Amino acid sequence: MIKSAVLTLSDKGFTGQRNDESGKIIIKMLEKIDAIVEYYKILPDEFDLIRDELVNLSDKGYDLVVTTGGTGVSPRDVTPEATLSIIEKRLHGMEIAMINESLRHTPFGMLSRAVVGVRKQTLIINLPGSPKAVQENLQVILPVIPHAVEKIKGSTIDCAQKMVKDNEG
Ligand code: MTE
Repeated sequence: MIKSAVLTLSDKGFTGQRNDESGKIIIKMLEKIDAIVEYYKILPDEFDLIRDELVNLSDKGYDLVVTTGGTGVSPRDVTPEATLSIIEKRLHGMEIAMINESLRHTPFGMLSRAVVGVRKQTLIINLPGSPKAVQENLQVILPVIPHAVEKIKGSTIDCAQKMVKDNEG
């Protein structure tokens, strides 16, 4: 079981001007990898609030925090900055995987600055805000999340052996 939290970061979502479809899609998709969402919150696009929430959730020992929204270049988009300010390790590979997949669907994939990284024993993943973007981005990294979480928690599982097993299906 992967103890998870979902944060929707959106001024409109926070004030109730927009229904949070994206958060619901994340919760549904995480079921496929046995990730149980025990915490869900909508926050406005405020650097301090986002940073403090990420610190709080990683201090509390969540395995996984998935955020949606605020990754673009609008004046209020600060999710990547808040994430970068608190992560200890950055996972460029997962970021690149999302951009690659996004570009297969839309050139606007270039406009996401989503960050993936680790603080303490928590994997933190930014996703863009739209339901379509959530679906397309999360789908490509989903199969890798359980192994990433295991490794972050110090599993000494032999990756080479694991990959042989996976390839055997
Ligand atoms: N990635 C995918 N796969 N599909 C999309 O529709 N939308 C893009 C991009 N990434 C999109 C995507 C758009 S239009 C923007 S502006 C950026 O994500 C940032 O979105 P955000 O500010 O809502 O996080």
